[in-house]
Amino acid sequence: MSPIPKTAPFAEEEIDLLNRVVGTASPVQRAWLAGFLAGLDASGATLVPAHPAAPARPAEPLTIVYASESGNSEKLAGDLAKAARKNGLKPTLIDMADLELSALTAAKRLVVIAATWGEGEPPARATRAYNELIGEGAPRLDGVEFGVLALGDTAYAEFCAIGKKIDERLAALGGKRVADRVDCDLDYAEPAARWIGDAVKALAPPNAGRVIEVDFGAKPAAAPSTDIFEAEITEHVDLNSSRSDKETIHLALSFEGGAPAYEPGDSLDLYPENDPAYVDELLKIAGLAGDEKLRTEFTKSRDVTTLSLKTVETYASSTGHQYVKALLDQGQAREWIAGRQLIDLIATFPIALDADKLRALTRPLAPRAYSIASSRREVGDEAHLLISAVRYESQGRARKGVASNYVAEGLKRGGHVRVKLKPNKHFALPATDKDVIMVGPGTGVAPFRAFVQERRATEAKGRSWLFFGDRTFTHDFLYQLDWQDALKDGSLTRMDVAFSRDTPEKVYVQHKLWERRADLIQWLEGGAYFYVCGDAKAMAKDVRAALVRAYADVKGLSPEAAEQAVVTLEREKRYLQDTY
Ligand SMILES: Cc1cc2nc3c(=O)[nH]c(=O)nc-3n(C[C@H](O)[C@H](O)[C@H](O)COP(=O)(O)OP(=O)(O)OC[C@H]3O[C@@H](n4cnc5c(N)ncnc54)[C@H](O)[C@@H]3O)c2cc1C
Ligand SMILES: Cc1cc2nc3c(=O)[nH]c(=O)nc-3n(C[C@H](O)[C@H](O)[C@H](O)COP(=O)(O)O)c2cc1C
Repeated sequence: MSPIPKTAPFAEEEIDLLNRVVGTASPVQRAWLAGFLAGLDASGATLVPAHPAAPARPAEPLTIVYASESGNSEKLAGDLAKAARKNGLKPTLIDMADLELSALTAAKRLVVIAATWGEGEPPARATRAYNELIGEGAPRLDGVEFGVLALGDTAYAEFCAIGKKIDERLAALGGKRVADRVDCDLDYAEPAARWIGDAVKALAPPNAGRVIEVDFGAKPAAAPSTDIFEAEITEHVDLNSSRSDKETIHLALSFEGGAPAYEPGDSLDLYPENDPAYVDELLKIAGLAGDEKLRTEFTKSRDVTTLSLKTVETYASSTGHQYVKALLDQGQAREWIAGRQLIDLIATFPIALDADKLRALTRPLAPRAYSIASSRREVGDEAHLLISAVRYESQGRARKGVASNYVAEGLKRGGHVRVKLKPNKHFALPATDKDVIMVGPGTGVAPFRAFVQERRATEAKGRSWLFFGDRTFTHDFLYQLDWQDALKDGSLTRMDVAFSRDTPEKVYVQHKLWERRADLIQWLEGGAYFYVCGDAKAMAKDVRAALVRAYADVKGLSPEAAEQAVVTLEREKRYLQDTY
């Protein structure tokens, strides 16, 4: 925006002040201000300063960077911005996906709220900027006052690794830590709110008296409800054949009074209960069998399976168990907990426990996210989920994932389940005339069923191309009939499949991308959007690597230039991931 001219009917320092406030305002903020002042004139009222005695001064800038994948850090960054405004600060929110490091050098005060994903990795879309910050070329940040809030999950060995690294890095680059880092577990709401309050106090300018404060905090008119809904299960179908070694449940939910206002790409958080048989065994091993109240509490609301380093430490300190202490002292606990659950700790190192001691070893039972596999424009007030039952064996014991087996074994048609909408505006469909390429093996295909339904309902002109994969064509072709129908009616233009166990050599979606590389690059050069959903550990990385190689091969680029081509897609928000 051009600055307010010196000829404006204000004193020089007032023009300066206006430029500082209005010059950096967003279009929405400017439109609000224009409307507000016009309304004031029309009503004949005058704007009276709240405290005429104190001279006004502009709010001090605060840069807030968030590195988020499923939206928690992003939401907290918004909360922080609101609190900052009330304390004499003028926040600028930056998604780490869009961060240029020069914004940090220009910052006087900086807060980073960062989640950790994968196995100690940054959220996918924050990777580029994170690597630049950690890399040798990062600029000095001498004197920048900063604080870091880390989000994570103690169930992961690399608990809050990214927040920790960013915190260390900002200090190493010369930043001045004014708020100590807090590492939050899944039940982050309270500690995060406390940290935000403390950080704002630490960062607020001294004597933050009267400031020019404009509350732009009004909620966008149509923010969807993120309340917990109780949904009825109207379909509960295993999409694998009875001869498959997998079980993937198609769950149709209906909502009395209307489904939450979800969009394709959003997920539902599902609130599970524990397997009562597991809880019984745990209570028996702990010597607490027969305590019905505890049994109900543990089944419904405590995480009784996760075994973290923190759990082992709590066990050692609350019981004084010699061998557990030794495990910690000798630095072997981290290795020992891999593939084990809480039940193994108590079974291996038994000691008398009371209910409080056992409860202290657990945390609240967290919901699990599931991509929505339907479009409201096609299914009305329903929402569909696609849930793969997690079952494996480790340390000689059969294990079951809590939520997926709660769904697969504990729920049936006619039953009810509690869910909450988890919007994801970073994994949304583009304009209807744009082409989309969707890579979704296994349950990763769920959001693409929503995409295809939406494109049908909106009569989208853009083409759509799906890459799907699973174990076998005969037993594991999830939603096969849906795809056939979609290919027939044109809502799906093209589909490539990879069934890894149908051929002597394993074929995965990344191999199909490579086979189709000429067309793939042509679609992307024509402006197509590229979506990846599903396994984060191997698939998402292999898919990205295949795309880099495809660019190199088809366009005759060096590996570096091909990597840049994919980075450009990411920067243009045409390479979008929702992986787990
Ligand atoms: C945004 C998002 C969308 C998602 N969408 C879907 C979806 O559409 N469909 C879907 O099915 N899932 C989806 N998930 C995954 C889902 O949220 C759960 O993580 C999954 O269902 C497992 O939950 P659970 O409670 O059954 O298992 P948990 O009780 O949480 O147990 C899982 C844990 O068991 C351990 N484990 C699992 N397998 C093994 C093994 N072979 N060996 C050793 N340890 C192992 C690991 O520690 C793992 O973290 C999504 C996740 C996210 C974040
Ligand atoms: C697939 C997956 C991998 C994760 N990996 C880690 C990890 O390695 N370390 C950690 O502390 N937390 C890990 N987490 C937990 C997230 O950091 C946590 O859910 C956080 O609140 C997400 O914040 P966001 O919504 O801002 O992305 C992982 C979560 C998921 C779903």
